[in-house]
Amino acid sequence: MTAPRHLLSLFDLERDALAEVLDRGAWWRQQRGRPDAPRPCAGRSVAIVFEKPSTRTRLSFEVAVHEMGGHPLVVQARDTQLGRGETLEDTARTFGAYVHALVLRTHAHQRLEILAAHAGIPVVNALSDDFHPCQLVADLMTVRAHTGGRLEGVRVAWVGDGNNVAHDWIAAAARTGIELVLACPPGYEPAAHVVDRARSLGARVELVTDPDAACRGADVVTTDVWASMGQEAEAEARRRAFEGWTVDAHRMRLAAPHAIFLHCLPAHRGEEVAAEVIDGPWSRVWEQAENRLHGQKAILEHVMRL
Ligand code: CP
Ligand code: NVA
Repeated sequence: MTAPRHLLSLFDLERDALAEVLDRGAWWRQQRGRPDAPRPCAGRSVAIVFEKPSTRTRLSFEVAVHEMGGHPLVVQARDTQLGRGETLEDTARTFGAYVHALVLRTHAHQRLEILAAHAGIPVVNALSDDFHPCQLVADLMTVRAHTGGRLEGVRVAWVGDGNNVAHDWIAAAARTGIELVLACPPGYEPAAHVVDRARSLGARVELVTDPDAACRGADVVTTDVWASMGQEAEAEARRRAFEGWTVDAHRMRLAAPHAIFLHCLPAHRGEEVAAEVIDGPWSRVWEQAENRLHGQKAILEHVMRL
């Protein structure tokens, strides 16, 4: 039996495989609403499990599986025996017996690795503390729609926390030829092992401490919340550390004249992004959010070998 394919971070997709997923995502976007749209998930079930809140990921995965002809099971982990201490290994084997793929949003990334090792079915990371690969599929689709398909040499500025989404932008740089500049406040840089791994694969990733310098000449400016899910207790300290790091119109004007603004959402206007930016002419965040749906279909097709 062939080993199941997983998507735990964007590092799991080789360059060609990622390009294929992005192409398929764009193709699924065109198929939407057509009565003859294919239903390659017919007869299959996909469990979509949450250990953290979600709006976009939850809805887009459920709708994606439904529109592909499959049966989505949206599960809150606290309602399962996981909440009463059943092991991840036993849970993995149980899910593997019933469904054809498992999508999980969780805390420690290692939980996904344990599930992937024991489930016997494809496992997809719907966000962990360390990575958010499904988000990057949608983000890269949005960039490609803006650049006419090009990613090689596109300059992306990440401003803010070196978090899970930043980590997959770094992996994306290794898989696409994007030139990534990350500006993070001291103490909030991305994990060195993620940067080192991407650089060892040839990624052009630069770390700076001046958000203006990162934005200067960028084709894409992107950011994320200052306190991620699970960091609520640090929120006040983080607000202080990130003061002055808002992506505002001044910073967008430093970027290239055609620059776009991306944000994975949910956003906090007045913190990591000014309303004039997220609600202004640079913003592509709604197209980006919609691309989660199309991208999710391409991801399921890839991991489930549909
Ligand atoms: N961007 C994203 O993953 O959004 P949700 O937390 O709403 O799923
Ligand atoms: N970094 C954020 C992303 C939310 C989609 C978090 O983990 O909460």
